[in-house]
Amino acid sequence: MVDAATPSRKDAGDGKAFYVTTPIYYVNDAPHIGHAYTTVAADVLARWHRQRGETVWFLTGTDEHGQKVMRSAEANGVSPRAWADRLVETAWKPVLSTIDASNDDFIRTTETRHTERVREFWNHLYDARQVYPGTYEGPYCVSCEEFKLPNELLDGEDGAKLCPIHGRPVEMLSETNYFFKLSAFTDKLLAYYEEHPEFVQPESARNEVVAFVKQGLQDLSITRSTFNWGIPVPWDDDHVLYVWIDALLNYVTAAGYRTDPLLFKRVWPADVHLVGKDILRFHAVIWPAMLMAAGLPLPRTVFAHGWLLVGGEKMSKTKLTGIAPSQIVDTFGSDAFRYYFLRAIQFGSDGSFSWEQISAIYTSELANGLGNLASRVAAMVGRYFGGTLPAPAAAGPAETALAERLAETVRIADEAMGGLRFHEALAAIDSFTDAVNGYLTEQEPWKVAKDDSPAARDRVATILYTAAESLRAISVLHNPVMPKSAAALWKELGAAETLGELDLQPLTNAGRWGLLPPGSVITKGEPLFPRIEEPDTK
Ligand code: ME8
Ligand code: MG
Repeated sequence: MVDAATPSRKDAGDGKAFYVTTPIYYVNDAPHIGHAYTTVAADVLARWHRQRGETVWFLTGTDEHGQKVMRSAEANGVSPRAWADRLVETAWKPVLSTIDASNDDFIRTTETRHTERVREFWNHLYDARQVYPGTYEGPYCVSCEEFKLPNELLDGEDGAKLCPIHGRPVEMLSETNYFFKLSAFTDKLLAYYEEHPEFVQPESARNEVVAFVKQGLQDLSITRSTFNWGIPVPWDDDHVLYVWIDALLNYVTAAGYRTDPLLFKRVWPADVHLVGKDILRFHAVIWPAMLMAAGLPLPRTVFAHGWLLVGGEKMSKTKLTGIAPSQIVDTFGSDAFRYYFLRAIQFGSDGSFSWEQISAIYTSELANGLGNLASRVAAMVGRYFGGTLPAPAAAGPAETALAERLAETVRIADEAMGGLRFHEALAAIDSFTDAVNGYLTEQEPWKVAKDDSPAARDRVATILYTAAESLRAISVLHNPVMPKSAAALWKELGAAETLGELDLQPLTNAGRWGLLPPGSVITKGEPLFPRIEEPDTK
């Protein structure tokens, strides 16, 4: 076994990129906001690390083999390949621009760069006697593409046994096929979880995985011969590979495994696999066992987030309870979409989407909070200083307090993002924005400006400089989360001319006070978050 213990370094001068992935999604149907939720989280993380000045590799893609996709294609009267092509081009790739995802690559499991490496990987494990022929019979959920344990099934009508995730009847599958010696990794995995508490997160997910593995693992059936929509087994053409052991390998095949050693060295091991808790076991049990068997380093962290619920149940393609991301983005914009899901739901816990809640957060935190702050500051710099940012005079206690608060906010937000506590990072930034609005309300520059003494004018200059400098930092902090409005704010502050591109402002420096130069030309643009017409909730 390889030394899988080496943690990935954050670009510590050796060029190691921060590598973040989403699950690759099944193309049985179009994406809903559950999929967009994971992708947005991964994108915010990717952009946050880029803003820190790190090199980043962000991968997403589609999972196209297996019975689930095959049956959708059949139901629609086309070949699985034609179905996958259609869904990828009309639904899965377009949703990435709807939500403003900045992925570096998009992998499809039907691509040769993937299928060939998958065959090599399993052929190698077959030669190494990690795979053996056998027979298996057990309940299988096609929606999960997973064998189930009899004790986890729910009782349905007429004695039917149901999948606990999809609520659909399982099918009895009996096959003569090939097995991966997963059981041999029980102790190695337990030891690994013990030595690497950061490997499975959050804590609740880690506990679940450890308890599951402690029951002892069974060997895993990894081939199918009753249908042929899959990657042919290299040593036996009557079989195709089980879709999960094909799909998991996307994280390395897209990262140059056995084709591009420079890329592979730069990105692997992944820093974070973001997944929903429905697919935690595949990522925290089967995947590391596969990597251990092949002697490859393990990812640093698998983070399982919670479910978006509808009527108390997981929103799903299978149950047709999905809301398309565009339904929300068309009303609120992609920035508010991105902000809302990460702000409103503690990452790791379940949450329900509601139009009322997104409207409330949009209005209070974005339109009345940040948007209003930006327009007040721009309007006053216009009115009192002809749009040119004045130099501040001596800072008083209120200014010093705000500058300290900013440094603290950046520290808290950066630490929270590093720990994937998005909600905490966004709460800190929002509360700083509130503090700046509160500062203006208390200092009342519009009243001070009524006095035209030089001292009063200095005071107004100090207050407006302080507010504008705070907005400079808020743009940088929000750029990974709300790139469109952060860019608009940056433009309003005239900061591109004085400080350069927003994307190049180091986050780690964002809390340093006094970076926005006096003399910057401030203009009042369109409202950052315009009032919303009552959304059409269908
Ligand atoms: O499982 N709430 O693909 P999939 C939150 N192809 N997240 C949700 C969600 C919800 N209601 N519904 C879906 C597969 N997701 C496999 C993955 S990876 C090697 C192969 C998100 O199309 C969440 O990330 O069923 C979940 O894990 C994923 O979509 C499942 O997508
Ligand atoms: Mg699913």
